[in-house]
Amino acid sequence: MDKAQQDALKKAAGIEGAKLVKDGMVVGLGTGSTVRFLVDELGRRTQEEALRFTGVTTSRRTAEQAEGYGIRIVDIDDVNDVDLTIDGADEVDKNFNGIKGGGAALLWEKIVNEASHRNVWIVDESKVVDTIGAFPLPVEVIPFGAKHVLKRLEDKGYKPVLRLDAEGRPVRTDENNLIIDLHMGRIDQPKDLAEDLINMVGVVETGLFLGRVNTVIVGDPNGPRILT
Ligand code: 5RP
Repeated sequence: MDKAQQDALKKAAGIEGAKLVKDGMVVGLGTGSTVRFLVDELGRRTQEEALRFTGVTTSRRTAEQAEGYGIRIVDIDDVNDVDLTIDGADEVDKNFNGIKGGGAALLWEKIVNEASHRNVWIVDESKVVDTIGAFPLPVEVIPFGAKHVLKRLEDKGYKPVLRLDAEGRPVRTDENNLIIDLHMGRIDQPKDLAEDLINMVGVVETGLFLGRVNTVIVGDPNGPRILT
């Protein structure tokens, strides 16, 4: 699948996801290129159909995009409940074990996911896999002592690589933390791995999202498929 085809599937999933947003809802808006299509569609409905909802976002860049359309964005701590969160994912298996954080937003994404009554992921078909782990697993760590955390991850055989930007500088998250990607190839025991990682000093959060999603909308050449 080339990028144009993949983008068409992401867009179709984003437009399908946008249909779930109704007037008066508090909606969590995820991060990434698929979510950009979702926000474009929600922006169109806001402007052309007078859709009115409140958004909480999982990154500053999604907030900027949404506010550009006149969508009302508030802080996650300014709402008691989030009705629905729509986010992308890097991989998801049939048991709804997923990897997120390709866009370095995994910490805010997990916080908004946790606060949300319903979680929906929008993905193109290439993201649906038998076993997760081909996509490098992002782990968010605080900058202090990050080299020591990297070494411990190496010693455990998790194949860690500090994520760099295009200029070769360490990527910083919206919380000013660093991302270490684990190139594990496949993850057969995601629960055990999640527990091991989260118990390491210096690790803030992992991109393992296990059973945290209710519905996955898959952009497919034959039209969006809904997995529940
Ligand atoms: C950002 C994420 C994204 O949802 C994930 O990387 C998917 O991105 P895209 O829609 O661009 O493929 O987890 O941290």
